[in-house]
Amino acid sequence: MPEGTSIFEAVDSYIDGLFVDTDDVLDAILTRANAAGLPEFHVSPGQGKLLYLMAKIIGAKNIVEVGTLGGYSTVWLARAMADGGYLATLELDAKHAAFARETMKLAGIDDRCEVIEGPALPSMQDMVGPLDLVFLDANKDAYPAYLNQAVRLVRPGGLILADNVVRQGSVLNPSGVDASAIGAAAFNQALASHPKLEAIILQQVGLKGHDGMAIARVKD
Ligand code: SAH
Ligand code: DHB
Ligand code: MG
Repeated sequence: MPEGTSIFEAVDSYIDGLFVDTDDVLDAILTRANAAGLPEFHVSPGQGKLLYLMAKIIGAKNIVEVGTLGGYSTVWLARAMADGGYLATLELDAKHAAFARETMKLAGIDDRCEVIEGPALPSMQDMVGPLDLVFLDANKDAYPAYLNQAVRLVRPGGLILADNVVRQGSVLNPSGVDASAIGAAAFNQALASHPKLEAIILQQVGLKGHDGMAIARVKD
């Protein structure tokens, strides 16, 4: 194991090596995003595969993503959609939105994906369901508000997924100055107690440090 690489990162890379096909398009997105100075907040390859599988398992055809960045997770989700599928991804930052539109052309998914630029909450409030899947990955302080909208929009049997809900354990005892930890902890509590949802959090370690992905299913 190379020095400075934890066993968790090494196993993450092992899992990716086994289950995540390397792909010129996905690799190019990360290289271009780095060159453009985008933050490295995109999901890991293994998390991308998890998102893809979740969407595929439920046959998702109507997906909303909250937090686009360079469109890396967008490509994973879009590739899982059956024919006729449509994905809208919500992004506040104009530079990220423009970059993601290029990503969609590069990946050949621009015919079935759209970036909606602006703050995500009003965009969600304007939406009409039913959706099959919502993936939350934008500002964590607003996760509880995004959850309310997702529950309104997602059909019975559909999924609500959310990245970064463990935050190195800071959700155990969120400090008053950490709005992301407070938001994620409130989101987790709401997810756990919501009468319309059945849910779990996968604790994750590895390429993106210590964090977690929430998986919730809207009850029938
Ligand atoms: N899902 C992406 C990573 C998203 S990073 C991937 O895995 O590839 C989080 C993104 O949310 C950033 O691009 C940030 O600009 C965006 N964001 C932050 N606040 C937002 C808001 N209020 N509305 C919409 N997007 C927001
Ligand atoms: C941050 C945001 C993310 O969605 C992520 O996966 C990692 C980090 C951040 O804003 O720091
Ligand atoms: Mg994230």
